[in-house]
Amino acid sequence: MDKAQGNNLDPWYSHYAERTAGLSASEVRALFAVASRPEVVSLAGGMPFVSALPQELVLTAVERTVRDHGAVALQYGSGQGSPRLREQILEVMALEGIHAGVDDVVVTTGSQHALELVSKLFLDPGDVVIAEGPSYVTALVVFRSFQADVAHVEMDELGLVPQSLRDTIARLREQGRTIKFLYTIPSFQNPMGVTLSWERRMEVLEIARENDILVVEDNPYGLLYFDQAPPQAMRSVDEDGVIYLGTFSKTLAPGLRVGWAVAPHAIREKLILANEAAVLSPSSFAQTVISEYLSTADWKGQINTFRDVYRERRDAMLGALNEQLPTLSWTVPNGGFYIWLTLPNNMDSKAMLPRAVKELVAYTPGTAFFADGNGRNAMRLSFCYPSPDFIREGIRRLAIVINGEMSLLTEFSQTAPLAVQPTRREGVLPPSVG
Ligand SMILES: Cc1ncc(COP(=O)(O)O)c(C=O)c1O
Repeated sequence: MDKAQGNNLDPWYSHYAERTAGLSASEVRALFAVASRPEVVSLAGGMPFVSALPQELVLTAVERTVRDHGAVALQYGSGQGSPRLREQILEVMALEGIHAGVDDVVVTTGSQHALELVSKLFLDPGDVVIAEGPSYVTALVVFRSFQADVAHVEMDELGLVPQSLRDTIARLREQGRTIKFLYTIPSFQNPMGVTLSWERRMEVLEIARENDILVVEDNPYGLLYFDQAPPQAMRSVDEDGVIYLGTFSKTLAPGLRVGWAVAPHAIREKLILANEAAVLSPSSFAQTVISEYLSTADWKGQINTFRDVYRERRDAMLGALNEQLPTLSWTVPNGGFYIWLTLPNNMDSKAMLPRAVKELVAYTPGTAFFADGNGRNAMRLSFCYPSPDFIREGIRRLAIVINGEMSLLTEFSQTAPLAVQPTRREGVLPPSVG
């Protein structure tokens, strides 16, 4: 299309900045519309089950915010976030081995906003972000919106593979590319649900240090473990080379939109300026509500409640997968929200999605989590939101679709060569741990 002429749908088409081209609707976004119909069992989104949070706890916090702190809570605040909340955030992070000072923390509008600010500080067009393959879909959208390229590192059941990180860095350097940072979700990764082992955390930090690469550690799920706590955060042992991102979205409520970043001193100063430029100050009201919640409610007990809820749902999904799809493989997460299901090589989860939705079940196709078209024969299944019964019903419906597709492909492969070729690079997708 001629850029100068615009198009019928958008007369301003030719006016956009070049980086706007990176802002195409993600597959997840399109899915939300379809999957929100009540008759569809959605295993697609990553919505926390906020109904497990007792209303009176929130009401008390909101009441106290208005009654006792109204003048501050309804006012603009500091671009770095309220000192009281930053102090409390230190307590939350201490649970994962992080020891920092109040000045090290910058409060943001969810960790998504911290990702945007970090990208704004570091990414020029053509720069490279190294990320796990697969990785969090809306992080990929942010990196693309700053016209950066994403290079994926292989994953297995212990998280990102250090040798693949080494190889990727060497290849990019050989090509003369500029690597700006490694983006990683070490605990209960989105979308695979796997956790980077302690040994690998140390090795990844070592590789990053040797190669002068900043690490962005995104950790929304670390406290939501089911049996054993994950290894301590990478930031707990590296203050200078890691930007750590945290959030209250999964341990309290995403509607409050409060997250934070902890960064080395000079970066932190720039983050505050970028935060001010974007929003002046993060919501004083939401920050005060969280401060009141943390000081009046048993928030650690509430995190235990969330763990119980999600553990039961994970078990329901694993049980149903074992029962309904025993020939396939999947990851077994020890926390978080997600299971990664691998289909036979010749299957395409994106092409299969309309059939699944017709069968009243939705999932997120694997390709959404790769910047390079990989992941066709995989999908992310979320167990966070539907009840255990709905999860079992959803997997039953999914099995009908997958089994139907598998027999169709078997039938065709006996009569003619397959039109669908596997796109999987050897070793990119995880071996089964299911
Ligand atoms: C890995 C990861 N990072 C960041 C976010 C964004 O979270 P927040 O609600 O704090 O913006 C999510 C949300 O699902 C996520 O899964």
